Amino acid sequence: MRPQNLKTRVFLDGGNPEETSESIKLLGFLDGQTTNPTLISKNPEARKRLERGEKFSVDEILDFYRGVVTTLYGLIPKGSISIEVYSDAATKADAMLRQGKEMFTWIKNAHIKFPTTREGLKAAERAVRAGMRVNMTLCFSQEQAAAVYAATRGAKKGQVFVSPFIGRLDDRGENGMDVIANILSMYAQGDGHVEVLTASVRNLDHFLYALKLGTDIITVPYEVLRTWGEKGMPMPEDGYRYDAKSLQPIAYRVIDLNRHWEEYDIRHDLTDKGMEKFSSDWNQLITTEQRKIA
Ligand code: G3P
Repeated sequence: MRPQNLKTRVFLDGGNPEETSESIKLLGFLDGQTTNPTLISKNPEARKRLERGEKFSVDEILDFYRGVVTTLYGLIPKGSISIEVYSDAATKADAMLRQGKEMFTWIKNAHIKFPTTREGLKAAERAVRAGMRVNMTLCFSQEQAAAVYAATRGAKKGQVFVSPFIGRLDDRGENGMDVIANILSMYAQGDGHVEVLTASVRNLDHFLYALKLGTDIITVPYEVLRTWGEKGMPMPEDGYRYDAKSLQPIAYRVIDLNRHWEEYDIRHDLTDKGMEKFSSDWNQLITTEQRKIA
């Protein structure tokens, strides 16, 4: 059963519906799920097919992705399910939007993931105006989150998520959790139209601290969700303190949310690296002659 004082929505981060069923069984609830190209490439059915030496055509891999999210929709019909467009450094907003529009028709509760880059923000701005729900992924900085806010101004509550990736900042010695705290403080000055979805969660401390900070949503890999469930779904105590160990703090910056999104410095090397990894994991699934759909 959902803990009574749990305000944050809890999503599973994964591409294997078996884990979704297991999580629901263990916790008794699940508020949604996020997927991405890397997670789809790890799906056991996709792995089996690759082990047989059979790659997918572009149409086949999209059908496969659609099949996975349709199954997830059956398991979490009321929660949000994030589906990510293919994008690499060369992918333009038009191509992202075209894919996103198609993916948005797959299920009734989709949020479409666009990268927090210039082209991704352009696509998101247009997607939101067309009434689509979006989840801006590969966000690593407060400035990027400010740009998401500005590009989606006027959206309805629930229509826009921003996904700051904390584990990947930790991996290089920076305190990823500071970015969550900073974005939440910055958004507290705004109109509340963007919800913060804490992502790239690696352990129970990330999870508990994100709840303590009051993140709107958190997406959690199955192993971490299982640990939480097996411990009886503990909530952070009043005196809970996050131990950042030797991670370098990331300072809060005063940022005006009322600028045009193109005025913010949205570049981040981890965003570029993240896009490279997602696109290369996706391309590994596809027959060589058909790679790159955008
Ligand atoms: O939701 C984003 C997440 O899948 C990224 O996690 O562990 O690859 O940094 P990770």
